[in-house]
Amino acid sequence: MNTVESFDLNGKVAIVTGAVGLIGQEHCRALAAAGADVVAADLDGAACAELATSLPGKALGLALNVTDYASVENLRDQVIEQFGRIDILVNNAAVNDMFENPALAAEQSQFEHYPLTMWQRSLDVNVTGVFICSQVLGSRMAADGGGSIINVASTYGIVAPDQSLYKNDRGEQTFYKSAAYPATKGAVISFTRFLAAYWGGKGVRVNTLSPGGVENQQDDWFVQNYAERTPLGRMAKATDYQGAVVFLASDASSYMTGANLVVDGGWTCW
Ligand SMILES: NC(=O)c1ccc[n+]([C@@H]2O[C@H](COP(=O)([O-])OP(=O)(O)OC[C@H]3O[C@@H](n4cnc5c(N)ncnc54)[C@H](O)[C@@H]3O)[C@@H](O)[C@H]2O)c1
Repeated sequence: MNTVESFDLNGKVAIVTGAVGLIGQEHCRALAAAGADVVAADLDGAACAELATSLPGKALGLALNVTDYASVENLRDQVIEQFGRIDILVNNAAVNDMFENPALAAEQSQFEHYPLTMWQRSLDVNVTGVFICSQVLGSRMAADGGGSIINVASTYGIVAPDQSLYKNDRGEQTFYKSAAYPATKGAVISFTRFLAAYWGGKGVRVNTLSPGGVENQQDDWFVQNYAERTPLGRMAKATDYQGAVVFLASDASSYMTGANLVVDGGWTCW
């Protein structure tokens, strides 16, 4: 197999969680373009089905709640019935705190006031969701002789949030990045290493993909703050992770497991 052929995903079945989100859609498009049959899974099954119609290959869209064990088992059963196998799992679903009222956001997001319910919700989706999908779907991959799991973390799993990033052009702190997001993403990186070591002998490779921030209609001052702290001088585009996800999913990365592939424009290098 030559190098270019090693990226080919024809004949592979890939499940992407959080598939209709900003980056999840691009993971689906990238994997499908590389030849995989993609199962787009997210809370809104209708939106997943619509996304699937736009993908090449035998794409399927299914409702999934990663925090609900029965929902993940149901997804596994449907995928096995339809395709007979699972080769690639992208654990991409996550929550990132939103404070609905901008006037109160700075106060509510302070660590001193940060609600326990939000902390627990982040742990549920971002950590327990990855655990459940890996256990239910990854176990099937391990039993069938191998595959590739890609756990999506973040630069904030590696370095602390720089809270000055969230100061607007008048110097006002608009909100604080919470403790929950970095704590959960750090856990994902650590869990990845655990599972890579555990399933190495079963042929299941497990790696983390750590993206940097994606430009998505944020205020100009935020985009500028972010760009100034990034060696490549810009925020990411949602498509900037397509190459990385195909690399990790495919035989191109066949000797790679337990690693954290950081794609962040250099954010964490200084
Ligand atoms: N956007 C960024 O700047 C950025 C930066 C670094 C890392 N990331 C990570 O990349 C991944 C995708 O981020 P995004 O920006 O596309 O986020 P997004 O909010 O656009 O999409 C996340 C998706 O996850 C789904 N989801 C939430 N809870 C779920 C549940 N219980 N079960 C199933 N699906 C659920 C949501 O419905 C949503 O479609 C996340 O893991 C995120 O932490 C994003």
